[in-house]
Amino acid sequence: MQEQLKGIRDRVIQELSQAKDTSALEQLRVRVLGKKGELTEILRGMGKLPAELRPQMGQMVNSVREKLEEAISARQAELKEAEKNAKLAREVIDVTLPGKDRQAGSAHPITLVLNDLLEIFSGLGFMSVEGPEIEYDRYNFELLSVPKNHPARDAQDTFYVDDNVVLRSQTSPVQARVMTTQKPPIRIVSPGRVFRADELDATHSPVFHQFEGLCIDENITMGDLKGTLDEFARRMFGEGIKTRFRPSYFPFTEPSAEVDLTCANCHGAGCRMCKGTGWIEVLGAGMVNPHVLEMCGIDPGKYQGFAFGMGLERLAIIKYGIPDIRYLYENDVRFLSQFR
Ligand code: PHE
Repeated sequence: MQEQLKGIRDRVIQELSQAKDTSALEQLRVRVLGKKGELTEILRGMGKLPAELRPQMGQMVNSVREKLEEAISARQAELKEAEKNAKLAREVIDVTLPGKDRQAGSAHPITLVLNDLLEIFSGLGFMSVEGPEIEYDRYNFELLSVPKNHPARDAQDTFYVDDNVVLRSQTSPVQARVMTTQKPPIRIVSPGRVFRADELDATHSPVFHQFEGLCIDENITMGDLKGTLDEFARRMFGEGIKTRFRPSYFPFTEPSAEVDLTCANCHGAGCRMCKGTGWIEVLGAGMVNPHVLEMCGIDPGKYQGFAFGMGLERLAIIKYGIPDIRYLYENDVRFLSQFR
């Protein structure tokens, strides 16, 4: 029996060193020390021994058992450590590898000039208001003093949805909407898309963007209009940029003016962009026609107002020196990424 015990001990110690992983080790442990294990069997068999031999044999079995338990747990610690290291090696991350490059987008030049305008005019106390792109003829024309059959309708080739509904040809209907619903003092700007039946070429597009301003209060004069637009010109294009008013005609303003700015490219010296004149036409403007105030429910004896409107495409073209309006609509990333 002693021999048998030694045999088991030596064999197990040897097998231990061959156990490849913790689960093989566990199988070995169960086979030797488990309920039906070899060593347990021997302990059970001791009942058959003469009583005087039992204590001595019991001690021997227990000491072998302790020894094996120790050896098994030592081997287990060893295997666990090895398995952990193998796992770490498998999952290693090379932090020096280059990362995935995500290209940041950029704001469209129209958005850039719009943001500039909103900042400038909110600084001057104007609130931004939007209106519908599909608009009643009444707001787009009639309340702006352009009745049906008025010759001024020909100046804008309008898309008609039906007799009374158009795709707005200007952002001015927002003026009419605000004047019919709000009491002075009014100070608003209204940016938005407008539509005209024009062919797309280097300087025209059937869909483009306007930015309109309206100010109504007591004692408003053309001086206020000029001061406001001078401030806009300076903040948008820099110190030294001046405005120049030329008499013009819009049905809803009286008097009306076309407003030029000093050419931002040559600062007035004359270049290709301003066709040698030193000036670039940027805005339409004027004092709100008293007849329009009246139609919109505002007393022209008490209140006066000025209004102005400009194209965002034109501003972007001037500000960034863009040679053709079509670049603004083609979404070519090589063009757009220059504005990052
Ligand atoms: N709505 C005019 C246009 O599209 C521009 C304008 C706006 C003129 C406001 C005067 C006042 O031509």
